[in-house]
Amino acid sequence: MIIPIKRAFNTVFNRQYPCPQGMIGSLAGELMVRQHATETVWTVSVADVQPADSVLEIGFGAGKAIALLADKTPDGSVAGVDLSATMVRRARTRNAQAVRAGQVLLQQGDAAQLPFANQQFDKVISIHSFYFWPEHAAVFAEIFRVLKPGGTCVVTFSTGKAGEAEAMRLEMEIEEQWLAHMRRLGFTEVQFAQGPVARQFKNVAIIGRR
Ligand SMILES: C[S@@+](CC[C@H](N)C(=O)[O-])C[C@H]1O[C@@H](n2cnc3c(N)ncnc32)[C@H](O)[C@@H]1O
Repeated sequence: MIIPIKRAFNTVFNRQYPCPQGMIGSLAGELMVRQHATETVWTVSVADVQPADSVLEIGFGAGKAIALLADKTPDGSVAGVDLSATMVRRARTRNAQAVRAGQVLLQQGDAAQLPFANQQFDKVISIHSFYFWPEHAAVFAEIFRVLKPGGTCVVTFSTGKAGEAEAMRLEMEIEEQWLAHMRRLGFTEVQFAQGPVARQFKNVAIIGRR
């Protein structure tokens, strides 16, 4: 009995992940904060954020990485864009003090049309949002546009269960397709980083410097 109930629970929440909405969406956002804790801390550390950096997160969900980024940028600023109005509200609540102080700015919007000026950010990060982007080519072009020269992006996602052949196949496909695309856009030092395994899932990141 417990297994079917757990399955139904997971399905209700999983369906929210592309764009969490309403009360269930809020709960799903908080669940993701717990589920993604390991790769969230890892991504922020890979981005090597400096105190005066201006940082953007795409698809911030309930805003845990935004909080970590705000702690690391006392002399800088943090911006975020997420498709979900529910997640914008949730993340603003989590980061209320920094939002009030003007250090953190969170907006509803689409990764494929970032509402920011050219060359505004030292770092752009994204965690588990990659799967839902409507057009990956357009999003990478937007990331390149908003990065300052010398700025870095770190896009983290999971390729599947650790050790499974499917995860390896997907990694090779992404390396061939997306790393090559980033180089064509003008990114340098493009690399594919192996991240931590969390809850049996393998996390990786695409990294590039403008
Ligand atoms: C699986 S959740 C991950 C949230 C958070 N980064 C985390 O790890 O807990 C995916 C997030 O990406 C956002 N998202 C999906 N498509 C998007 C798009 N095209 N532009 C911006 N955000 C998007 C969703 O609204 C959601 O908050």
